[in-house]
Formats: sequence, structure tokens, C-alpha cells
Amino acid sequence: MRAIVAMISMAGLLVACATQEMPDASEGAALYAENCAMCHGADGRGDGELAREIREESGRAPSDLTMISQAEEGDFPRAQVLSYIDGYTRGRLPEQDMPEFGLLLEGPTVPVGTGDGVLSPVPRPLAALMVYLESIQR
Ligand code: HEC
Repeated sequence: MRAIVAMISMAGLLVACATQEMPDASEGAALYAENCAMCHGADGRGDGELAREIREESGRAPSDLTMISQAEEGDFPRAQVLSYIDGYTRGRLPEQDMPEFGLLLEGPTVPVGTGDGVLSPVPRPLAALMVYLESIQR
């Protein structure tokens, strides 16, 4: 009996460790396709099916998300991208055109290095989106 309890809690620990790992780009790609592609386009180039409407209504075109690093001289600005998406998800920037993505902030966090040597806890879906965007830079 004790052995079984020990085995079950070991399994739980393993699961906990596994979910602590950084998500890979494919996890983010799925979230991107569901929540972002309608504006930013299937390939992130800013040409989603809503892009024109958004531009006409607000004068703001969805960004080409494959050019973020180029604008920063080759460095993908992880912290900046995280806070950008996070700001939208929390509805902190109501005048902007991205919908609210409350669900993307839920669930367990993973430690993400943002370049300053510090690991910050980031909700897993948000981290996955960041990794995906990082992977599509031109
Ligand atoms: C309703 C349309 C729409 C949706 C959906 C949308 N965005 Fe955006 N996004 C925009 C617009 C418009 C901009 C241009 C900047 C602004 O807000 O003025 C933008 C800008 C951005 C930027 C800043 C790019 C830069 O060059 O700094 C990032 C990052 C971003 N979006 C990520 C996402 C992610 C990730 C998702 C999905 C979770 C998403 N967006 C969903 C419309 C959208």
C-alpha cells in the first residue's frame, strides 16, 4: 500500500516537473492559429482575414510578427513581446484592437529567461506563444 502511494506521488512529481518545462513552438503555433491568425495571418505576416477591416476601422494594421527581431537589430525582445501580449490579454490597453485573451493567462507558469539573467514565471500559454513567435522571425 505504501509503495503504491509512493509510486503515485512520484508520478505526480514527474508530471509537475514535465509541465515546468518550456513549451515548444508547436504548442504556441496551435494557440496562435486559434487566437491570432485571423488578424496577423496564418504565417504571421499581418495579412489575416480581419486585417483589412481592422485597418479601415482603426487605422492600425496588424503587425508583421515575423519582423519583430529585425526591428530590434536581430534580438528577439522577449520581455517586450510578453508584456505586449499580456497587456492585451488583461485588457489593459482598451484603445488597442486586439481582443482579450484571458484564457491565455491561465494555468501553471513556466520559468522564462528574458535576457536579463532573471527567470520570470510566465503562464504556459503565453510562454508558448512567445516561443512560437521567436521561431518565425525572418
Ligand atoms: C483583432 C485583431 C488582432 C488579433 C486577433 C491579434 N492581434 Fe496582435 N496586433 C493587432 C494590431 C492591429 C497590432 C498593431 C499594433 C497596435 O495594437 O496598434 C498588433 C500588434 C501585435 C504585436 C506587436 C508587434 C510589434 O511589432 O511590436 C504583437 C507581439 C502581437 N500583436 C501579438 C499577437 C498575438 C500573440 C495574438 C494572439 C494571441 C494577437 N496579436 C492577436 C491586431 C490583432
